[in-house]
Amino acid sequence: MECLTRITNRTLLSIILLFAIAIVISISGCYNDNEEDLYPGSGGCDTSNVTYSNSVAPVFAGYCNSCHNANNASGSILTDSYTEVKNNMSRIYGAIYHQSGFSAMPKDAGQLSPCDLAKVDIWVRQGMPNN
Ligand code: HEC
Repeated sequence: MECLTRITNRTLLSIILLFAIAIVISISGCYNDNEEDLYPGSGGCDTSNVTYSNSVAPVFAGYCNSCHNANNASGSILTDSYTEVKNNMSRIYGAIYHQSGFSAMPKDAGQLSPCDLAKVDIWVRQGMPNN
């Protein structure tokens, strides 16, 4: 009889422990959720302090400079120089926004993310400062 009680208590303890573990796992699962992963493009885009060097140049470096540099100026466009970017922004803008009359860029790849497009757009609206 005593033995049976002990087993029952242990079983009960195991069940409680399992529940506790399950709760901890499900809660920590929620903490790991991040808005940018759940809803790409809707959040996590920091456009509060857009500058050429910190916001715009890295986008071109990541998606454009390999085909648009001094040694390989596809379409006579350079994207690795502030002056060239500024002087050619009407074509660059048309290309990255996939506007009609322009070759869609980056070539043979998906369009830039809404966040990267927003950074370029904000900088253009600021008057393309060299900052
Ligand atoms: C894989 C190579 C490659 C990448 C990456 C690439 N381009 Fe191009 N780009 C080209 C080539 C080749 C041309 C010229 C032929 C054409 O227009 O399709 C061109 C043309 C252009 C033009 C002229 C388009 C026009 O209609 O006047 C612009 C502007 C441009 N690219 C901007 C960009 C920007 C901005 C990026 C990055 C977001 C980028 N490119 C990424 C290869 C590339």
